[in-house]
Amino acid sequence: MTAQQIRRTFLDFFISKQHKIVPSAPIVNKDDPTLMFTNAGMNQFKDYFLGTQTPDVRRIADTQKCLRVSGKHNDLEEVGRDGTHHTMFEMLGNWSFGDYFKKEAIAWSWELLTEVYKLPKDRLYATVFEGSPAEGVPADDEAKGYWSEVLPLNHIINGNKKDNFWEMGDTGPCGPCTEIHIDLRPDSERALIPGEQLVNKDNPRVIEIWNNVFIQFNRKADGSLEELPDKHVDTGMGFERLTLAIQGKFNTYDTDIFTPLIEFVEQASGIKYNGQYPDSPTSIVNLSSSVKSDIAMRVVADHIRAVSFTIADGQLPGNSGAGYVIRRILRRAVRYYYSFLNIKEPFLHRLVPMLADMFADVFPELKAQQEQVAKIIQGEEKAFLNTLENGLRRFAAIKVKDGVIAGDDAFEF
Ligand code: GLY
Repeated sequence: MTAQQIRRTFLDFFISKQHKIVPSAPIVNKDDPTLMFTNAGMNQFKDYFLGTQTPDVRRIADTQKCLRVSGKHNDLEEVGRDGTHHTMFEMLGNWSFGDYFKKEAIAWSWELLTEVYKLPKDRLYATVFEGSPAEGVPADDEAKGYWSEVLPLNHIINGNKKDNFWEMGDTGPCGPCTEIHIDLRPDSERALIPGEQLVNKDNPRVIEIWNNVFIQFNRKADGSLEELPDKHVDTGMGFERLTLAIQGKFNTYDTDIFTPLIEFVEQASGIKYNGQYPDSPTSIVNLSSSVKSDIAMRVVADHIRAVSFTIADGQLPGNSGAGYVIRRILRRAVRYYYSFLNIKEPFLHRLVPMLADMFADVFPELKAQQEQVAKIIQGEEKAFLNTLENGLRRFAAIKVKDGVIAGDDAFEF
């Protein structure tokens, strides 16, 4: 299946379960002072969960553009260094607003993954909340019971509050969750260490793909939990990770969501992409030039998505707030292509037309504004490349004696 077919299949599956498909909310969250960017599919439905607004329908599904680069969920520093983290990613989700609950949510997750996408059952694991006596939330035996109808007990793992109690931010709707993980290791490795020992242990081949949250509480500003009048379902499946698993890859950058972008960067830089990753958390300056250029290509392929879609959703790069976050992501991409791909001219903006075409059916807002978006990015790149080059010239002019820069130079006014 292509990525496009995988996305369509998800939406069609939930249409067949009487869900209404809605468009992604903008990636910039202008209406909620507690959240700068949309970080989960459920953000746009916050008021439905809290009961302060009533939805037209009680079952919804969509694919949501999300950005996790600030606040409670921040993945920025991982991006490029590993094969599964992104700034912008798509979250496939289905929601029940006071309608179906754990039984249906779990049964449909299983049906979609194993019968429609045909993911191998013996490689799937589910985690369930072990409970928190301090918060007065019991262990989720109900979810465990439903999972035990389809999974052997050693594939159902208890998880703590960090992994199995999902919260949107410091305040807001929240509740226990059950995550679905997949073990993508070769059989030889699986025979040595069973997958259940590696779930939620940062193994790059044993990864979470779907989170089913059972929203039951509102976290209040004083930290206490208030029970909500209704019980809801809020699920989030990482589209890029799902695609990786279905396409039999190990890294999202090897799926057709990213390969066209990486090929474009290869051609523009004249450098081959080798798909290498650093094997330790060392600084990038200590890595070989081929790992550096691989990281840089992934950074560029990732960051252009975050920057383009955020601008298309109305947030210009700027000096404060959300605008500054976007400017920083854009500048991070420029630093990487300038330093590790030997590209010295504005380049990111050239990827916009390809990106707009790739997403024309699902997020047409980029295609509709592709020229303006590319122009804005090009202007930012030009300005930052000037700053970068001036800075580097000044560095080159500074005298370094025995590895030391004089205080007068380092702190020049
Ligand atoms: N709201 C579910 C998730 O983001 O994992």
